[in-house]
Amino acid sequence: TRVRIIGAPTDYGANRRGVDMGPSAIRYGGLADELAGAGVDVVDGGDLTVPRAEERDPEAEAPATGDAKFLKETADVCRRLADEVSGALADGAVPLALGGDHSIAIGSLVGSAREAEIGAVWFDAHADLNTPSTTPSGNVHGMPLAAALGIDEFADTDWANAPGLSPDNIALVGLRSVDDAEVELIRERGFTAYTMSDIDERGITEVTEEALAAAADGVDGVHVSLDLDWLDPNEAPGVGTPVRGGVTYREAHSAMELVDEADCLRSMELVEVNPTLDRNNETAALATELAASAFGKRVI
Ligand code: ARG
Ligand code: MN
Ligand code: MN
Ligand code: MN
Repeated sequence: TRVRIIGAPTDYGANRRGVDMGPSAIRYGGLADELAGAGVDVVDGGDLTVPRAEERDPEAEAPATGDAKFLKETADVCRRLADEVSGALADGAVPLALGGDHSIAIGSLVGSAREAEIGAVWFDAHADLNTPSTTPSGNVHGMPLAAALGIDEFADTDWANAPGLSPDNIALVGLRSVDDAEVELIRERGFTAYTMSDIDERGITEVTEEALAAAADGVDGVHVSLDLDWLDPNEAPGVGTPVRGGVTYREAHSAMELVDEADCLRSMELVEVNPTLDRNNETAALATELAASAFGKRVI
């Protein structure tokens, strides 16, 4: 396997500054070595250039549609990320995007779905299915799945709305903080969704295998989106929107090993690592270990 790392150091989609330092922290946490240890050929494509929030155009402050902060800046980052992701795939590599906040998933999904039908597994405490009209926060990191599916305001954009992606092939795993409008969408549109209660009752193995199978059914490959707030904040404190009661270190590793075993991984991202909230870079280091498991690292 060849992996191409693409850093997307943006915090425009989050309400907390600092998540833009995620790519540096994850690299410093040993990503290249961990992946090499998994037997992967790693190329680091560096970081996308993201304008600092302090120097952005004040005219750009007004959101393009509804109540979504920095939508224009987010669109700019995601357009370029989509090009990098589809470029890596065209070169025969698996793109691994490093956030940044979860808004970058719009670029990853659009790029991954450009020449293919894809599924996605969303390992996250949140559903990230809000839209500019339903968002409680205005933060685009709560909207990337809705954006990539072209729901509501995102339908007519040229930078979101990935045609090769449908709710039939999307599985959400580990939900424990979902807004009312998101619950409605999940019920209406046929997503496969597992809460923490499902994991408690059925175990991480069965749930993850089912999620991967649903995502991979009839498509060319699967995008794995790993929001570090999927884990319990005791294990992954360095995130902007922590929610108690997440998966453990061991459950997370198990799930990522099952990603490797399912043999359908097309693209991946590690998001929401915020080193300013972390404890000795532990969350970033954990992200690198989990990526290595997803790419095939084994003890023996
Ligand atoms: N649902 C909340 C919102 O829309 C929180 C989203 C958190 N998303 C994330 N990627 N951390 O604001
Ligand atoms: Mn989350
Ligand atoms: Mn299908
Ligand atoms: Mn998320």
